[in-house]
Amino acid sequence: MPKNKCIRVGYGTVAPIHERKMRECNVETVAIVEVDEQKRLQAQLEGFTVFSSCQEAAKLNPTFWDICVSTNQHLNVIQSIVDLASQANIFIEKPICLFSEIPALRRTLLNFEGKITVNENYASSTIKNLMQTIAFNELQIHPEKIIVEFTKNRELDFARGRFIDQELGALGYEGSHMLTLVSEMLEDYVPGRILENKFSDLIFKSSEQLLENQGSAYVRYKSLSQVEIELYTSLAGTIKYKPPLFCIEDIRYDDLNSKYRFIAVYGRDCHNDKYCVGGFFEPINSFKRCQGAVYVTLNNKVERIIAPIKDDTMLQHFQQTLNYFQGVAENPYSVEKSIKIVEILHSFANEMRSSKSLHLV
Ligand SMILES: NC(=O)c1ccc[n+]([C@@H]2O[C@H](COP(=O)([O-])OP(=O)(O)OC[C@H]3O[C@@H](n4cnc5c(N)ncnc54)[C@H](O)[C@@H]3O)[C@@H](O)[C@H]2O)c1
Repeated sequence: MPKNKCIRVGYGTVAPIHERKMRECNVETVAIVEVDEQKRLQAQLEGFTVFSSCQEAAKLNPTFWDICVSTNQHLNVIQSIVDLASQANIFIEKPICLFSEIPALRRTLLNFEGKITVNENYASSTIKNLMQTIAFNELQIHPEKIIVEFTKNRELDFARGRFIDQELGALGYEGSHMLTLVSEMLEDYVPGRILENKFSDLIFKSSEQLLENQGSAYVRYKSLSQVEIELYTSLAGTIKYKPPLFCIEDIRYDDLNSKYRFIAVYGRDCHNDKYCVGGFFEPINSFKRCQGAVYVTLNNKVERIIAPIKDDTMLQHFQQTLNYFQGVAENPYSVEKSIKIVEILHSFANEMRSSKSLHLV
């Protein structure tokens, strides 16, 4: 089969991960587009053909464009590509755009005849798929509550100059992954009523410097169909949910490898038996990379453990994306779904700010 050819726009942190996984999918990167001269040089040294604008690169006529630029440049790059090739295939990193840019994005895509899909990679997770099969096909539970936690210690990342999301605070890093998972588990995942919404500051262990609203975020809400959702993320490594299996201790600031990514769906079956179907995404300490686990409890007793399970969400999502571009699969994560995620995260952050200012009065 002829190789898919991609042009990657942006050569920052996430770009090499895309390169590695795309190669596994038999994709050839025919060019890199970068605005930063140093990064262009680096890409050239690594063997890529480089350009400083999409316009120059477009003559290579790629199978698809792979957009890895900073989020505040997503709309700008989409606009350039749509102007150059109205039938292009576009793969773009999450989040699709900034909240304030949603109307302009919709206008840009109004007459677009190509395909565009978003790298919400957890939508293609095997762990998530298996949990859905067990909870909703096998056990046929009626969901009552969903919990998601994505925790990491980002203190050193921030100290080294990693981008700080002022708009969404602590929700700006893993928030869209967590909501994507909930959106996959529950059709009616959109918040009806927010019950709790707390952000905390991040205080650096080393210097006591403080980053406002970057420590953790906790949101508890009810969907319109009354399912309770809890989302929690800590950037200070503080673990909140400690189920019986695969749980880890709080992550220290000098531990750059550990991540804790957990989801649980609670509900009852037609006999009123209480089930919990839980999932741990990679990395898990005792497993290899890209291996996760699923477990089931019945009336609070562990009934089943399925582990390790191979789950390379990025690779699987790329494969789904290529199938979509070839016309043999559905869009793995549409622009409209992605816009909804941006809107919900924005409303959480707004609510948090207004409740904070109320407390200050
Ligand atoms: N799916 C995931 O798990 C995941 C993980 C990390 C990052 N991301 C997303 O990936 C995107 C990039 O993140 P990153 O950490 O690699 O950012 P980064 O800042 O490290 O890299 C972005 C690069 O884009 C370049 N750039 C900016 N504007 C450009 C333009 N108009 N044309 C060409 N190049 C341009 C910058 O010079 C920079 O080199 C963000 O939207 C982020 O949210 C997703």
